Amino acid sequence: MLIRREIQADIDAIRGVHTRAFAPNYPDGDPVEPRLTDDLRNSDAWIPRLSFVAMEDDEVVGHVCCTRAHLLPAERPVLGLGPIGVDPARQRARIGSALMHAVIGAADALDEPLIVLLGHPSYYPRFGFVPATALGIRAPDPSWGDAVMARTLTT
Ligand SMILES: CC(C)(COP(=O)(O)OP(=O)(O)OC[C@H]1O[C@@H](n2cnc3c(N)ncnc32)[C@H](O)[C@@H]1OP(=O)(O)O)[C@@H](O)C(=O)NCCC(=O)NCCS
Repeated sequence: MLIRREIQADIDAIRGVHTRAFAPNYPDGDPVEPRLTDDLRNSDAWIPRLSFVAMEDDEVVGHVCCTRAHLLPAERPVLGLGPIGVDPARQRARIGSALMHAVIGAADALDEPLIVLLGHPSYYPRFGFVPATALGIRAPDPSWGDAVMARTLTT
């Protein structure tokens, strides 16, 4: 398995991976994550250096990206992580972990100060994420609770 930056030719395959990865979360309809990824890619928030694919046998089997976000009230620029998705046929083989380490390392190398995400509180602590409230960051909607996590980087 190889991790590399996303290229134009990967876009359809990335859509497919997120569609399959998130389908179980949407028993009554289509996952929003493929469209969210497209919308982010077409927005000012997109950072090409922080979108990674996992490749096996020349097929995209996973994808993650970090995009520009801002902390209020000072509009401090930080990163938002996600979506991250791994093809269900290849989950639990450490591909998600490899993608997480790749994007965190790249963000750190770019002197980014902080990554925030909305995700499952039992998955992300292994990558150094803590509840965002522990860093004084409040979610726009308090009901999101500990699903809002953050990780400081070196800078
Ligand atoms: C989350 C995801 C990216 C992890 O990818 P992966 O390649 O399966 O992850 P890894 O093999 O590196 O890690 C597997 C571990 O993560 C855990 N894990 C996977 N998904 C999890 C989840 N949603 N919540 C909590 N733990 C999860 C597994 O239990 C496993 O734990 P173990 O190491 O103790 O056995 C993948 O499961 C996925 O695409 N899920 C569907 C989309 C999704 O929910 N994305 C994240 C949104 S928060």
